[in-house]
Amino acid sequence: MFPLRRNRRLRTNESIRALVRETYLTPNDFLVPLFVVEGQGIKEEIPSMPNYYRLSLDMLKKEIVELWNMELKAVLLFVKVPDNLKDNKGTEALNPEGLMQRAIKTIKEFCPEMLVMTDVALDPYSSYGHDGIVQNGKIVNDDTAEVLAEMGLSHAQAGADVLAPSDMMDGRILSLREALEDEGFFDTGIMSYSAKYASSFYGPFRDALDSAPVDMQEVPKDKKTYQMDFANRFEAIRETEMDIDEGADIVMVKPGLAYLDILREIKNEVDVPVAVYQVSGEYAMLKAAAEKGWLDHDAVMLEQLIAFKRAGADIIASYFAKDVVRLLS
Ligand code: PBG
Repeated sequence: MFPLRRNRRLRTNESIRALVRETYLTPNDFLVPLFVVEGQGIKEEIPSMPNYYRLSLDMLKKEIVELWNMELKAVLLFVKVPDNLKDNKGTEALNPEGLMQRAIKTIKEFCPEMLVMTDVALDPYSSYGHDGIVQNGKIVNDDTAEVLAEMGLSHAQAGADVLAPSDMMDGRILSLREALEDEGFFDTGIMSYSAKYASSFYGPFRDALDSAPVDMQEVPKDKKTYQMDFANRFEAIRETEMDIDEGADIVMVKPGLAYLDILREIKNEVDVPVAVYQVSGEYAMLKAAAEKGWLDHDAVMLEQLIAFKRAGADIIASYFAKDVVRLLS
């Protein structure tokens, strides 16, 4: 082929590189995770997530305005629950006046077009820090799926547009979908965390919400009996196909960077939109290296985010959403 083909011709300068570039990022690619806390006037930085904050409802409003003005039109809500409201069954998760339900209403009342997605899992509400109910040292599946369906329904009743179950119980998409249909919530979407791995990259998130599994006898110290083994690939396809069959509108791969192979494979297999979650540990890694002056923050951020899109992501949940939109404009 050489010298008839010289691939470097198309790399000669930025103009021609731009002309042949295959992948772009826009604000529409992003889903912005937000952490909500009780209180007033609170905007507290999360120690292991520099420049990322927990917000009280009044500060959440300000954040929503800022996001909307940046054309970031979709958020994914998480709440930090006070210890005295936690129990094994996650009772507080069903409180129609709970923090999550109030956060949804707050956003929907004053910015109805903002797409509100909510995390559906028990861990922030669980006294044991598990995504499900613990019985005899095990995380029970079917009872958990029932509670999660009620939890999702209560988010839908508060006005959530899309529910995002992140727990990895079997059958939870079906029980949630049935609960929504029974109550007439035909338009409520489900974005399933379908291929969610038992990952050590979630550490900073668990700091943010104080939701790590507790260190107690009789309680599993990790989430390996429900989240997937990171050595597995075919299992990710099986999980994802099942979630689609059970009624998921969007599927997700999580974490992101260490799972680009899975992301591409799922994108090739399925015909629903595929999301990826660039998780808290991925954010923390880059922030830490950039703080030390070891990596160029913006350049590496862009390279990582483009990699998700190139690997097939239709939606990217990322703590860098604001940073990257600022960089692009
Ligand atoms: C809750 C949940 C977790 C994350 C999203 N939803 C933590 C976990 O499963 O332990 C992690 C997100 C992140 O690390 O950014 N089930």
